[in-house]
Amino acid sequence: MTRPISRPAIVVNFKAYREADGLKSLEIARICQSVSEESGVRIAVCPPAVELGAVAREVGIPVLSQNVDPHAPGSSTGWVTPSMVAAAGAVGTLINHSEHKVPAKVVDECLRLSKACELLTVVCAGDVKVAVEMARLGPDFVAVEPPELIGGDVSVTTADPRVVEATVESVKRVNGMVSVLCGAGIKTGADVREALDLGADGVLLASGVMKSKDPRATLNDLIGLL
Ligand code: G3P
Repeated sequence: MTRPISRPAIVVNFKAYREADGLKSLEIARICQSVSEESGVRIAVCPPAVELGAVAREVGIPVLSQNVDPHAPGSSTGWVTPSMVAAAGAVGTLINHSEHKVPAKVVDECLRLSKACELLTVVCAGDVKVAVEMARLGPDFVAVEPPELIGGDVSVTTADPRVVEATVESVKRVNGMVSVLCGAGIKTGADVREALDLGADGVLLASGVMKSKDPRATLNDLIGLL
């Protein structure tokens, strides 16, 4: 299967920000699509689960879920199954985000079910050690995000460039098929450029776009040095 996102990957996580409530998710996704079309840079979006279908039906850029639960279709009230995420039109999912952590064996089961639905998988890790553990499980991407830098104003590429380099080196050693994203505090084109120069295949970011007074200008800046 051709990967719906590839280097340089820009993945915007809408989290549960008020700016993503209801139709606002679609508005931000449309801005991402328009910047993506104008620039030719692939931008993927992760709206809240309840907006996945509405967004995926309306935009042509890759849409990912923020999470899936380790449940098959059936008697699983309230859980978000990989099957329903795929049916909603998403092409992939985050797993084990720092704000939605699960044990490794749950990650493994989410990966198994997601792959069965041909979903692209992005497993998050807070440090190099966890990134390596996750890479061994065989996701498409590992995203390293030091939790203490998430939502802050200093990019991981400035505050801790070594964690990005070390994750890339260690993950490639364990499984050369796994691509690496980095995230936390990414807000500018210089941050994205630095991430790529450190060896990452792209970035996973949230507040830089979601809390921006002008998301379009921020997105244009983010891709400006590619
Ligand atoms: O999933 C993205 C993330 O946790 C980083 O958030 O706000 O630091 O870009 P932020």
